[in-house]
Amino acid sequence: MRKEYIYKRFERFWHWSQASLIIFLSLTGFEVHDSIHVFGYNNAVMYHRVAAYLLLGLIVFAIFWHFTTGEWRQYIPTFKKLKDQLRYYSVGIFKNEPHPTNKSALHKLNPLQVLTYLSFKFVLIPLVVFTGILYMLHKHIDDNSIVVISNIPLDSIAIWHTFGAFMLITFLIVHVYMTTTGETVTSNIKAMITGYEEFEPGEEEEKESKKKPTLAS
Ligand code: HEM
Repeated sequence: MRKEYIYKRFERFWHWSQASLIIFLSLTGFEVHDSIHVFGYNNAVMYHRVAAYLLLGLIVFAIFWHFTTGEWRQYIPTFKKLKDQLRYYSVGIFKNEPHPTNKSALHKLNPLQVLTYLSFKFVLIPLVVFTGILYMLHKHIDDNSIVVISNIPLDSIAIWHTFGAFMLITFLIVHVYMTTTGETVTSNIKAMITGYEEFEPGEEEEKESKKKPTLAS
């Protein structure tokens, strides 16, 4: 078994706080939308705004962390082994075949995860954040005490924001399923809690260890 420190402290904090904020924003957002009733409408509006500011702050810190630590390189897309990874999730996994890519601190994401997380970071989150900010600024009082109403119809902002919310919830459900496809059902989740993950030697590692000279040879 190989044990490796994969997720750093900030990364784990960022992951779990982002997940909690998105779940809380879904709860309060869908109360504003009148789909559920948990906190009461006025509280839901207030909580949604506070959580939105916290998420914006977290996003700023996460961007800073990725660039100062060089971790942004984890997201450089590659098509190498992408087909193998797709085949693994659709066929290989049900036949107990080995993972086609090896996970390590330097390569935390497989090629399919890289593409998925890039769309999450560059399409989905910006859609919800951008429409959320437009929603917030739609009617506000400017420095001259004049009420400013944006030209964009509130209906369109709300529809795009809610569409983004549905997509985020879909992402969350698929993401939770995918976390169970590691070495064991819980190994990925444990790694995101403790930072450490244990791996069976992959095919490539086995080949490497066979090449290494032993005392007997
Ligand atoms: C920084 C991120 C976000 C900002 C700035 C933001 C902002 C807002 C604002 C201003 C509203 C109108 C209610 C109010 O006045 O408070 C709203 C509604 C809503 N938000 Fe967000 N939000 C954000 C993230 C999210 C997320 C992550 C979700 C769910 C995954 C979400 C789901 C909703 C929903 C469903 C509504 C109700 C839309 C409607 O029916 O009009 N929001 N949001």
